[in-house]
Amino acid sequence: MTLRAVVKGVGHFLPERIVPNSEFEKTLDTSDEWIRSRSGIERRHFAAEGQTTSDLGYEAARAALENAGMQADDIDAIVVATSTPDLTFPSVATMLQNKLGMRRGFGFDVQAVCAGFIYALTNANALILSGQCKTVMVVGAETFSRIMDWEDRSTCVLFGDGAGALVLQAETGSGGNEDRGVLSADLNSDGRFKDMLFVDGGVSTTGSSGKLRMQGNALFRQAVEKLTSTAHTALTKIGLTDDAVDWIVPHQANIRIIQGTARKMGVPMDRVIVTVQDHGNTSAASIPLAMSIGVERGQIKPGDLLVAEAIGGGLAWGAVVLRW
Ligand code: UT7
Repeated sequence: MTLRAVVKGVGHFLPERIVPNSEFEKTLDTSDEWIRSRSGIERRHFAAEGQTTSDLGYEAARAALENAGMQADDIDAIVVATSTPDLTFPSVATMLQNKLGMRRGFGFDVQAVCAGFIYALTNANALILSGQCKTVMVVGAETFSRIMDWEDRSTCVLFGDGAGALVLQAETGSGGNEDRGVLSADLNSDGRFKDMLFVDGGVSTTGSSGKLRMQGNALFRQAVEKLTSTAHTALTKIGLTDDAVDWIVPHQANIRIIQGTARKMGVPMDRVIVTVQDHGNTSAASIPLAMSIGVERGQIKPGDLLVAEAIGGGLAWGAVVLRW
């Protein structure tokens, strides 16, 4: 008998305003054709003025609770992955706790940029396996539109805002790979790559939130190799190979990275959840958004084996193997 953190509910939220690629043609030397062909992105959602990361996270969390058939007070802990919090502190998780009307338990944020949801999910799994919590809400929520340099065409056309959430609950499994729930995880970071993707401001440097800077081409070259390797490591830890995978749920940064990773893993594209065209790179929100949309489309079904993988600023990267 082994404890497993099993998905009981999933939900997502995208802000109302949809911005097509053509809108950037008005202010930048760019084109819909360039953005589509280099990244696969066709449109993204941007939060309204005054709409914050915790607002987006709240809507996704409500949807996940409803999907799970649970109330806020059924949750023991909230783990939020974000790099764009409402305030420097307190955490988005505690703001979410208050908005949900949750009067018990605890919440905290995890910051691993685009790999944030993988880190948050791994932490939530550990809270459950240690017996600390029975039920954990894991949220990825971002407002990357707030840290864009609108004059930098090489970054501002790539990112969007959104949120996704999972409710995980302890269940007893057999200990084998047929169990539902989180089966394996692999986390990595290497701070030598800081300059590839960072924000040029912060509390203890400039005292402002700063703007995102990225060496896209150099990061691209790291991404396919590191994503394939972390996915393989997570699978190998539990004795599985690529052919066991029903769905790759990749971080949605660039369709060419998604295709390159799937090709290296030998998984055909009809077993990959792709949402990048509709909301661009939503950083830590991208994997739970893809999971929720994958379920909504009827692609991901109970019992399917998923590999979720992501890479971003740090560099930080990792993968989780999960039976839905
Ligand atoms: O979420 C974290 C993980 N993020 C990633 O993994 C992102 C990784 N990188 C990428 O997705 C891609 O590298 C990009 C989409 C950012 C760029 O694609 P690329 O094929 O690597 O293009 P590039 O950076 O090599 O740029 C090619 C050309 C350059 O012009 P020159 O120097 O060849 O004359 C850029 O200045 O495209 C130019 N360019 C643009 N042109 C039109 C850059 N941005 C734009 C733009 N519109 N928006």
